[in-house]
Amino acid sequence: MKPILVTGATGTTGAEVVRQLAARGVPVRALVRDPAKAGALAALPGVTLVQADLAKPETLAAALDGVERAYLVTSPDPAQVALHSAFFKAAKAAGVKHIVRHSGLGADVNSPISLGRWHGESERELEASGIAWTHLQPHLFMQFFHNHAASIRDQGVFYAPLADAAVSMVDVRDIAAAAVVALTEPGHEGQRYAITGPAAVSFAEAAATLSAALGKPVQYVAVTPDQAREAMLGGGMPEWLATDLANMFGFFATGQAAFVSPAVEHLTGKPGHSFADFVRDNLVAFR
Ligand SMILES: NC(=O)c1ccc[n+]([C@@H]2O[C@H](COP(=O)([O-])OP(=O)(O)OC[C@H]3O[C@@H](n4cnc5c(N)ncnc54)[C@H](OP(=O)(O)O)[C@@H]3O)[C@@H](O)[C@H]2O)c1
Repeated sequence: MKPILVTGATGTTGAEVVRQLAARGVPVRALVRDPAKAGALAALPGVTLVQADLAKPETLAAALDGVERAYLVTSPDPAQVALHSAFFKAAKAAGVKHIVRHSGLGADVNSPISLGRWHGESERELEASGIAWTHLQPHLFMQFFHNHAASIRDQGVFYAPLADAAVSMVDVRDIAAAAVVALTEPGHEGQRYAITGPAAVSFAEAAATLSAALGKPVQYVAVTPDQAREAMLGGGMPEWLATDLANMFGFFATGQAAFVSPAVEHLTGKPGHSFADFVRDNLVAFR
Protein backbone atom coordinates (compact mmCIF):
# COMPACT_ATOMS: atom_id res chain seq x y z
CA MET A 1 0.00 0.00 0.00
CA LYS A 2 1.30 3.47 -0.86
CA PRO A 3 1.88 5.74 2.13
CA ILE A 4 -0.60 8.47 3.00
CA LEU A 5 1.14 11.82 3.45
CA VAL A 6 0.07 13.73 6.58
CA THR A 7 1.10 17.37 6.98
CA GLY A 8 1.00 19.19 10.32
CA ALA A 9 2.19 15.98 11.94
CA THR A 10 3.77 17.87 14.88
CA GLY A 11 0.47 19.68 15.49
CA THR A 12 -2.71 18.87 17.40
CA THR A 13 -4.77 17.31 14.63
CA GLY A 14 -2.07 16.01 12.27
CA ALA A 15 -0.39 14.01 15.05
CA GLU A 16 -3.72 12.38 15.92
CA VAL A 17 -4.34 11.52 12.24
CA VAL A 18 -0.89 9.87 12.11
CA ARG A 19 -1.62 7.89 15.31
CA GLN A 20 -5.01 6.68 14.09
CA LEU A 21 -3.74 5.71 10.61
CA ALA A 22 -0.83 3.82 12.19
CA ALA A 23 -3.25 2.03 14.55
CA ARG A 24 -5.13 0.81 11.46
CA GLY A 25 -1.93 -0.50 9.90
CA VAL A 26 -1.90 2.14 7.15
CA PRO A 27 1.59 3.27 6.07
CA VAL A 28 2.09 6.97 6.81
CA ARG A 29 4.60 9.52 5.60
CA ALA A 30 4.55 12.32 8.20
CA LEU A 31 5.65 15.67 6.82
CA VAL A 32 7.51 17.69 9.46
CA ARG A 33 9.60 20.84 9.40
CA ASP A 34 11.65 19.73 12.39
CA PRO A 35 12.03 15.96 13.00
CA ALA A 36 13.17 16.70 16.56
CA LYS A 37 9.60 17.87 17.31
CA ALA A 38 8.03 14.65 16.01
CA GLY A 39 8.65 12.86 19.33
CA ALA A 40 7.21 9.37 19.54
CA LEU A 41 5.46 9.54 16.15
CA ALA A 42 8.45 8.17 14.26
CA ALA A 43 8.44 5.07 16.45
CA LEU A 44 4.88 4.12 15.47
CA PRO A 45 4.57 1.11 13.14
CA GLY A 46 4.50 2.04 9.46
CA VAL A 47 5.33 5.73 10.07
CA THR A 48 8.25 7.41 8.35
CA LEU A 49 9.15 11.08 8.67
CA VAL A 50 9.92 13.33 5.76
CA GLN A 51 11.38 16.79 6.30
CA ALA A 52 9.76 19.52 4.20
CA ASP A 53 8.27 22.98 4.49
CA LEU A 54 5.28 24.31 2.53
CA ALA A 55 7.05 27.70 2.50
CA LYS A 56 9.90 26.03 0.58
CA PRO A 57 8.11 24.49 -2.41
CA GLU A 58 11.36 22.93 -3.64
CA THR A 59 11.18 20.53 -0.64
CA LEU A 60 7.75 19.18 -1.59
CA ALA A 61 8.49 17.04 -4.66
CA ALA A 62 10.54 14.52 -2.67
CA ALA A 63 7.99 14.52 0.16
CA LEU A 64 5.15 13.74 -2.27
CA ASP A 65 6.99 11.22 -4.43
CA GLY A 66 4.88 8.04 -4.70
CA VAL A 67 2.00 9.51 -2.69
CA GLU A 68 -1.63 9.18 -3.90
CA ARG A 69 -3.53 10.50 -0.87
CA ALA A 70 -2.70 13.32 1.54
CA TYR A 71 -4.10 15.08 4.60
CA LEU A 72 -3.44 18.82 4.59
CA VAL A 73 -3.47 20.91 7.76
CA THR A 74 -1.25 23.80 8.83
CA SER A 75 -1.31 26.42 11.59
CA PRO A 76 -3.52 29.53 11.52
CA ASP A 77 -1.29 31.72 9.35
CA PRO A 78 -1.81 34.77 7.08
CA ALA A 79 0.37 32.91 4.55
CA GLN A 80 -1.99 29.92 4.53
CA VAL A 81 -3.46 30.51 1.07
CA ALA A 82 0.01 30.72 -0.51
CA LEU A 83 1.30 27.73 1.48
CA HIS A 84 -1.63 25.55 0.48
CA SER A 85 -1.40 26.75 -3.10
CA ALA A 86 2.22 25.57 -3.22
CA PHE A 87 1.13 22.22 -1.80
CA PHE A 88 -1.63 21.78 -4.43
CA LYS A 89 0.80 22.54 -7.26
CA ALA A 90 3.42 20.11 -5.94
CA ALA A 91 0.73 17.46 -5.33
CA LYS A 92 -0.59 17.83 -8.86
CA ALA A 93 2.92 17.48 -10.29
CA ALA A 94 3.53 14.38 -8.15
CA GLY A 95 0.29 12.71 -9.33
CA VAL A 96 -1.54 12.88 -5.98
CA LYS A 97 -5.12 11.67 -6.55
CA HIS A 98 -6.99 12.81 -3.42
CA ILE A 99 -6.42 15.52 -0.78
CA VAL A 100 -8.43 15.58 2.43
CA ARG A 101 -8.10 19.17 3.57
CA HIS A 102 -8.62 20.36 7.13
CA SER A 103 -10.60 23.58 6.88
CA GLY A 104 -12.89 25.33 9.37
CA LEU A 105 -16.63 25.57 9.97
CA GLY A 106 -18.00 28.59 8.12
CA ALA A 107 -15.18 28.63 5.54
CA ASP A 108 -16.30 31.08 2.88
CA VAL A 109 -14.52 33.48 0.55
CA ASN A 110 -16.86 36.19 1.86
CA SER A 111 -16.40 35.43 5.57
CA PRO A 112 -15.79 38.50 7.78
CA ILE A 113 -13.32 36.31 9.75
CA SER A 114 -9.88 36.15 8.08
CA LEU A 115 -9.41 32.46 8.91
CA GLY A 116 -12.80 31.63 7.39
CA ARG A 117 -11.98 33.62 4.27
CA TRP A 118 -8.55 32.01 3.83
CA HIS A 119 -10.03 28.54 4.27
CA GLY A 120 -12.70 29.43 1.71
CA GLU A 121 -10.06 30.57 -0.77
CA SER A 122 -7.96 27.41 -0.27
CA GLU A 123 -11.04 25.21 -0.65
CA ARG A 124 -11.89 26.86 -3.97
CA GLU A 125 -8.34 26.50 -5.26
CA LEU A 126 -8.26 22.81 -4.35
CA GLU A 127 -11.62 22.24 -6.05
CA ALA A 128 -10.26 23.81 -9.24
CA SER A 129 -6.97 21.89 -9.11
CA GLY A 130 -8.22 18.70 -10.77
CA ILE A 131 -7.23 16.68 -7.69
CA ALA A 132 -10.11 14.91 -5.92
CA TRP A 133 -10.90 16.68 -2.66
CA THR A 134 -12.69 16.28 0.63
CA HIS A 135 -13.22 19.31 2.89
CA LEU A 136 -13.38 18.66 6.62
CA GLN A 137 -14.78 21.76 8.32
CA PRO A 138 -14.26 21.41 12.07
CA HIS A 139 -15.94 23.54 14.71
CA LEU A 140 -14.10 24.87 17.79
CA PHE A 141 -11.82 22.15 19.20
CA MET A 142 -12.57 20.95 22.76
CA GLN A 143 -8.77 21.03 23.06
CA PHE A 144 -9.22 24.85 23.12
CA PHE A 145 -9.74 24.30 26.87
CA HIS A 146 -6.03 23.49 27.20
CA ASN A 147 -5.50 27.27 26.70
CA HIS A 148 -7.37 27.74 29.99
CA ALA A 149 -5.77 24.84 31.87
CA ALA A 150 -3.52 27.03 34.04
CA SER A 151 -6.30 29.30 35.33
CA ILE A 152 -8.65 26.32 35.83
CA ARG A 153 -5.91 24.49 37.74
CA ASP A 154 -4.63 27.44 39.81
CA GLN A 155 -7.72 29.62 40.31
CA GLY A 156 -10.73 27.40 39.46
CA VAL A 157 -11.89 29.89 36.84
CA PHE A 158 -11.80 30.51 33.09
CA TYR A 159 -12.70 33.61 31.12
CA ALA A 160 -14.21 33.59 27.61
CA PRO A 161 -16.45 35.83 25.48
CA LEU A 162 -19.21 33.28 24.81
CA ALA A 163 -21.96 34.95 26.92
CA ASP A 164 -24.45 32.19 27.79
CA ALA A 165 -24.52 30.64 24.32
CA ALA A 166 -23.81 27.00 23.58
CA VAL A 167 -21.27 25.75 21.06
CA SER A 168 -21.00 22.27 19.52
CA MET A 169 -17.25 21.87 20.12
CA VAL A 170 -15.53 18.81 18.67
CA ASP A 171 -12.80 16.59 20.12
CA VAL A 172 -9.74 16.49 17.85
CA ARG A 173 -9.84 12.68 18.11
CA ASP A 174 -13.11 12.77 16.14
CA ILE A 175 -11.73 15.12 13.47
CA ALA A 176 -8.89 12.64 13.02
CA ALA A 177 -11.27 9.65 12.94
CA ALA A 178 -13.31 11.38 10.23
CA ALA A 179 -10.11 12.15 8.31
CA VAL A 180 -8.97 8.53 8.49
CA VAL A 181 -12.27 7.32 6.98
CA ALA A 182 -12.15 9.95 4.22
CA LEU A 183 -8.53 8.98 3.44
CA THR A 184 -8.93 5.21 3.48
CA GLU A 185 -12.48 4.43 2.34
CA PRO A 186 -14.07 5.20 -1.03
CA GLY A 187 -16.91 7.63 -1.66
CA HIS A 188 -15.75 10.80 0.08
CA GLU A 189 -14.36 12.64 -2.92
CA GLY A 190 -16.13 15.91 -3.68
CA GLN A 191 -17.72 16.01 -0.21
CA ARG A 192 -17.59 18.71 2.46
CA TYR A 193 -18.30 17.65 6.02
CA ALA A 194 -19.15 19.94 8.94
CA ILE A 195 -17.36 18.33 11.87
CA THR A 196 -18.96 19.14 15.24
CA GLY A 197 -19.27 17.40 18.57
CA PRO A 198 -22.38 15.39 19.48
CA ALA A 199 -23.99 18.22 21.50
CA ALA A 200 -23.89 21.96 22.00
CA VAL A 201 -22.48 22.90 25.39
CA SER A 202 -22.59 26.28 27.14
CA PHE A 203 -19.49 27.28 29.07
CA ALA A 204 -21.53 27.27 32.31
CA GLU A 205 -22.24 23.60 31.53
CA ALA A 206 -18.56 23.08 30.67
CA ALA A 207 -17.63 24.58 34.05
CA ALA A 208 -20.08 22.22 35.79
CA THR A 209 -18.55 19.24 33.96
CA LEU A 210 -15.04 20.33 34.97
CA SER A 211 -16.19 20.91 38.59
CA ALA A 212 -17.72 17.44 38.85
CA ALA A 213 -14.69 15.71 37.31
CA LEU A 214 -12.14 17.66 39.37
CA GLY A 215 -14.11 17.56 42.61
CA LYS A 216 -13.68 21.33 43.09
CA PRO A 217 -15.63 24.37 41.89
CA VAL A 218 -14.72 25.72 38.47
CA GLN A 219 -16.39 28.96 37.41
CA TYR A 220 -16.93 30.36 33.90
CA VAL A 221 -16.70 34.16 33.75
CA ALA A 222 -18.17 35.74 30.62
CA VAL A 223 -16.10 38.65 29.28
CA THR A 224 -16.70 40.86 26.26
CA PRO A 225 -14.95 40.13 22.94
CA ASP A 226 -12.93 43.35 23.46
CA GLN A 227 -11.75 42.21 26.90
CA ALA A 228 -10.80 38.82 25.46
CA ARG A 229 -8.93 40.49 22.60
CA GLU A 230 -6.94 42.66 25.03
CA ALA A 231 -6.08 39.61 27.13
CA MET A 232 -4.92 37.65 24.05
CA LEU A 233 -2.81 40.61 22.90
CA GLY A 234 -1.36 40.85 26.42
CA GLY A 235 -0.41 37.17 26.15
CA GLY A 236 1.60 37.91 23.00
CA MET A 237 -0.86 36.74 20.36
CA PRO A 238 -0.50 38.44 16.95
CA GLU A 239 -3.04 41.22 16.46
CA TRP A 240 -4.78 39.67 13.44
CA LEU A 241 -5.35 36.38 15.33
CA ALA A 242 -6.57 38.05 18.55
CA THR A 243 -9.01 40.13 16.49
CA ASP A 244 -10.17 37.10 14.49
CA LEU A 245 -10.73 34.96 17.59
CA ALA A 246 -12.56 37.76 19.41
CA ASN A 247 -14.81 38.26 16.38
CA MET A 248 -15.35 34.52 16.06
CA PHE A 249 -16.40 34.20 19.72
CA GLY A 250 -18.59 37.29 19.29
CA PHE A 251 -20.39 35.36 16.55
CA PHE A 252 -20.56 32.17 18.65
CA ALA A 253 -22.08 34.26 21.48
CA THR A 254 -25.08 35.07 19.27
CA GLY A 255 -26.15 31.44 19.65
CA GLN A 256 -25.54 30.52 16.01
CA ALA A 257 -22.71 28.06 16.73
CA ALA A 258 -24.80 25.32 18.33
CA PHE A 259 -25.57 23.37 15.17
CA VAL A 260 -24.84 19.63 15.59
CA SER A 261 -23.68 17.93 12.41
CA PRO A 262 -24.32 14.22 11.78
CA ALA A 263 -20.99 13.88 9.89
CA VAL A 264 -18.81 12.32 12.62
CA GLU A 265 -21.33 9.55 13.31
CA HIS A 266 -22.05 9.14 9.58
CA LEU A 267 -18.35 8.72 8.80
CA THR A 268 -17.12 6.76 11.81
CA GLY A 269 -20.25 4.94 13.01
CA LYS A 270 -19.87 6.54 16.46
CA PRO A 271 -21.40 9.75 17.83
CA GLY A 272 -18.10 11.37 18.77
CA HIS A 273 -16.70 12.28 22.17
CA SER A 274 -18.80 14.38 24.55
CA PHE A 275 -17.27 17.24 26.50
CA ALA A 276 -17.42 14.99 29.59
CA ASP A 277 -15.36 12.38 27.69
CA PHE A 278 -12.82 15.05 26.78
CA VAL A 279 -12.53 16.22 30.40
CA ARG A 280 -12.24 12.65 31.73
CA ASP A 281 -9.48 11.79 29.25
CA ASN A 282 -7.53 15.04 29.82
CA LEU A 283 -8.12 15.46 33.55
CA VAL A 284 -4.43 15.57 34.39
CA ALA A 285 -4.10 18.85 32.44
CA PHE A 286 -6.67 20.61 34.67
CA ARG A 287 -5.74 19.13 38.04
N1 LIG B 1 -8.38 25.43 17.06
C1 LIG B 1 -9.66 25.35 16.68
O1 LIG B 1 -10.58 25.33 17.51
C2 LIG B 1 -9.96 25.23 15.19
C3 LIG B 1 -11.28 25.08 14.79
C4 LIG B 1 -11.55 24.92 13.42
C5 LIG B 1 -10.51 24.95 12.49
N2 LIG B 1 -9.24 25.13 12.92
C6 LIG B 1 -8.15 25.12 11.92
O2 LIG B 1 -7.27 24.08 12.28
C7 LIG B 1 -5.97 24.37 11.75
C8 LIG B 1 -4.95 24.18 12.84
O3 LIG B 1 -4.99 22.82 13.23
P1 LIG B 1 -4.12 22.30 14.47
O4 LIG B 1 -4.53 23.07 15.70
O5 LIG B 1 -4.19 20.83 14.49
O6 LIG B 1 -2.68 22.80 14.05
P2 LIG B 1 -1.45 23.17 14.98
O7 LIG B 1 -1.49 22.38 16.25
O8 LIG B 1 -1.33 24.65 15.03
O9 LIG B 1 -0.26 22.58 14.12
C9 LIG B 1 0.04 23.12 12.86
C10 LIG B 1 0.97 22.16 12.16
O10 LIG B 1 1.25 22.71 10.86
C11 LIG B 1 2.67 22.68 10.68
N3 LIG B 1 3.08 23.73 9.76
C12 LIG B 1 2.87 25.06 9.89
N4 LIG B 1 3.43 25.73 8.86
C13 LIG B 1 4.01 24.79 8.07
C14 LIG B 1 4.77 24.86 6.88
N5 LIG B 1 5.07 26.02 6.29
N6 LIG B 1 5.22 23.70 6.35
C15 LIG B 1 4.96 22.50 6.94
N7 LIG B 1 4.25 22.38 8.08
C16 LIG B 1 3.79 23.51 8.64
C17 LIG B 1 3.24 22.88 12.08
O11 LIG B 1 4.58 22.47 12.11
P3 LIG B 1 5.64 23.02 13.23
O12 LIG B 1 5.45 22.10 14.41
O13 LIG B 1 6.93 22.90 12.57
O14 LIG B 1 5.23 24.44 13.56
C18 LIG B 1 2.31 21.96 12.87
O15 LIG B 1 2.69 20.62 12.74
C19 LIG B 1 -6.03 25.80 11.22
O16 LIG B 1 -6.19 25.77 9.83
C20 LIG B 1 -7.28 26.36 11.90
O17 LIG B 1 -7.87 27.40 11.14
C21 LIG B 1 -8.94 25.26 14.24
